[in-house]
Amino acid sequence: MNKVLITGARGMVGAALVRAFGPAAVGLGREDLDIADAQGLERLCGLHRPRAVVNAAGVNRGPALEIMDINARLPGKMAEVCARLGVGYVFLSSSRVFGRPGPGPWLESDAPQPVDDYGRSKFEGERLVRGAMSDRGCCVLRLPMVLGAPRRPQNQILTRLIEQARGGRPVRVAMDVMHSPLEVNDAARVIRSLVDRGASGTFHLASSDRASLYEIFSYATQRLGIAAKIIPVEAAWFGKDKALLNLSLASRVLEPCGDWRRAVERFAEDLQEEDR
Ligand SMILES: NC(=O)c1ccc[n+]([C@@H]2O[C@H](COP(=O)([O-])OP(=O)(O)OC[C@H]3O[C@@H](n4cnc5c(N)ncnc54)[C@H](OP(=O)(O)O)[C@@H]3O)[C@@H](O)[C@H]2O)c1
Repeated sequence: MNKVLITGARGMVGAALVRAFGPAAVGLGREDLDIADAQGLERLCGLHRPRAVVNAAGVNRGPALEIMDINARLPGKMAEVCARLGVGYVFLSSSRVFGRPGPGPWLESDAPQPVDDYGRSKFEGERLVRGAMSDRGCCVLRLPMVLGAPRRPQNQILTRLIEQARGGRPVRVAMDVMHSPLEVNDAARVIRSLVDRGASGTFHLASSDRASLYEIFSYATQRLGIAAKIIPVEAAWFGKDKALLNLSLASRVLEPCGDWRRAVERFAEDLQEEDR
C-alpha cells in the first residue's frame, strides 16, 4: 500500500507530482489510463495496491459538457471505485470555484460561487467526490494559479501573455484580477505531504500574499528579460462583467507556500530551461 497512482501524469501538475512522490509514484498518462475507464482504474489499483489515487487529469477549455464530464462526472466515478477499494482519493479543484469580487483571499470556510463553466465543473466535481467517499480518505485541494512550464502554453494565461509580449505587441493585462500563485513543484510537495499524512477534507493551497495579474505578468517579463509594453486595464475592458475578479486563496489550515514573487522567479527559470 505504498504506491500512489497519479492520473493525468503527463500534464504540468501530474508530472510535478510524479517527481515529488519519487519511487512511490505510478504515473499514468492518458495512454496508460483514460479516466473514463473505471475498470482500468480498478485493475491498476489491484495491480499496484496504492494508498491513494491523485487525479491530475482535467481540462480548462472546450465545450461545457466535456468540461463537466472530465472535471466532475468522471472524477466522481473514480472516487466511487476508490471508496469501494478503500483507497484514498485526491481531487484537484481550483480557486475558480470562487471568482466574485471579494475583500481578501478566499478561505476554506467561504461558500463557493462559480461563475464560469470550468469553475462550475470543479464545484460539481467536489460535490461528487465527497459524496462518493463520504469524506473518508478524500482530499479536495483547491489550487490557485499554478506556475510552471505548461504542457500547452495556450492553456495558461501567463504563458499566453508572454507569447504575445514576445511577439512585440502591446499587452493589456487586468490589474483588478487577484491571484495567489504557486510554483508547480511547491504545489506538488504540499500535495505529497497531505497524502503522506492521510489528510481528509478541503484545503486551499496558496502563496503567502496575493497580487494582481498585472503585477504577476510585469514581474515575469522582467525576470525573463522581455521588454514588453504592458498596459494595465480593468477586467471590464475585455468585455467581461465583474466575474472572475478574485481568484486568490488563503488557508486556515495549511502554511502558505512562500512569496508569489519567488513562484514567478522559479517559473521564469523553468521557462528559460525549456527554451534552452
Ligand atoms: N494549472 C493550474 O493553474 C491549475 C489551477 C487549478 C487547478 N488545476 C487543476 O489541476 C489539474 C492538472 O492541471 P494541469 O495544469 O497539470 O493541466 P494540464 O497540463 O492540461 O494536464 C492535464 C492532463 O489531463 C489529461 N487528461 C485530460 N483528459 C483526460 C482523460 N480523459 N483521461 C486521462 N487523462 C486526461 C491531459 O492529457 P492530454 O495532454 O493527453 O490531453 C493532460 O495531460 C487539472 O484538474 C486542473 O484543473 C490546475
